[in-house]
Amino acid sequence: MKTIIYYYTGTGNSLWTARLFAKQIKNAKVFSMIDLKFEAELKKADAVGLVFPVHMWGVPNLALHFIKKLEKHTDKYYFAAAVNAGQVSRTLIQLKNAMQALELKLFAGFDIVLPSNYIPWGGPGPEDERQMLFKAAEDKIKKATSLLLKKETMPVDKGPLWQRIIFTALYKLTYNMIPKMDKDFWIDNKCNSCGTCEKICPVKNITLTAGKPVWHHRCEQCLACIQWCPQESIQLGEKTPQYERYHHPDIKIKEMLRL
Ligand SMILES: Cc1cc2nc3c(=O)[nH]c(=O)nc-3n(C[C@H](O)[C@H](O)[C@H](O)COP(=O)(O)O)c2cc1C
Ligand code: SF4
Ligand code: SF4
Repeated sequence: MKTIIYYYTGTGNSLWTARLFAKQIKNAKVFSMIDLKFEAELKKADAVGLVFPVHMWGVPNLALHFIKKLEKHTDKYYFAAAVNAGQVSRTLIQLKNAMQALELKLFAGFDIVLPSNYIPWGGPGPEDERQMLFKAAEDKIKKATSLLLKKETMPVDKGPLWQRIIFTALYKLTYNMIPKMDKDFWIDNKCNSCGTCEKICPVKNITLTAGKPVWHHRCEQCLACIQWCPQESIQLGEKTPQYERYHHPDIKIKEMLRL
């Protein structure tokens, strides 16, 4: 099976997940959803994976836009992994429906739980719990791959009913507000004008003015800027100065920079 896996990531969890799928599948190629040079590879593939984080209990805007670039009417085997911190809610059902509207079929969708990067609600949790999540995710990806290799069709993973009802309503309420949520970022006096935030933003939402970051209100809330700032100078709201930063331990900053 010729497989191509597209990922979108803020803090590396989805890149790590995409690579693990690729390793298990063997010979699968991994590309970023923000890399537009993918069409030739896509044509050759007979299976396509989509790996992305769950944001606000749903599919992030960037991934929703990405699927519109995929070929229509294909018989390709599409699968997805929604990488999250324990509340996948209705994300994979939403993706399946959005793909169906584009005449694409999602054959399988997996809920992969990894440490949280949503820093306004606290840090990523104790180290031993993080290690348990990595191990459980690895086991799940191995099992999922054995189904993918047989091109099985199966219902996508979903959260409990209460989650799907309450959080889907919240997703709909917050979705349009996301681009402007960057107004709550601020920097403390540790910023040394290194420019990492400008280079890491997947949507070029940050520029340095007089050596300091300015956010331009087309934010995806991936939180890469706050989580990867080498000085831990970027803050979001009042509590983040006291919270631990997080990125996946196997992903290095140079793999994340887009400029
Ligand atoms: C804006 C935002 C919203 C999030 N919403 C959810 C959510 O609804 N459910 C959940 O389980 N995790 C949520 N998370 C946590 C991430 O999905 C999770 O940490 C994921 O592994 C991050 O993947 P990445 O490192 O590839 O960006 C959210 C994270 C961010 C930044
Ligand atoms: S990454 Fe941090 S230290 Fe570097 S310019 Fe941005 S805010 Fe300043
Ligand atoms: S500004 Fe920060 S949170 Fe928003 S998209 Fe860019 S890196 Fe992600």
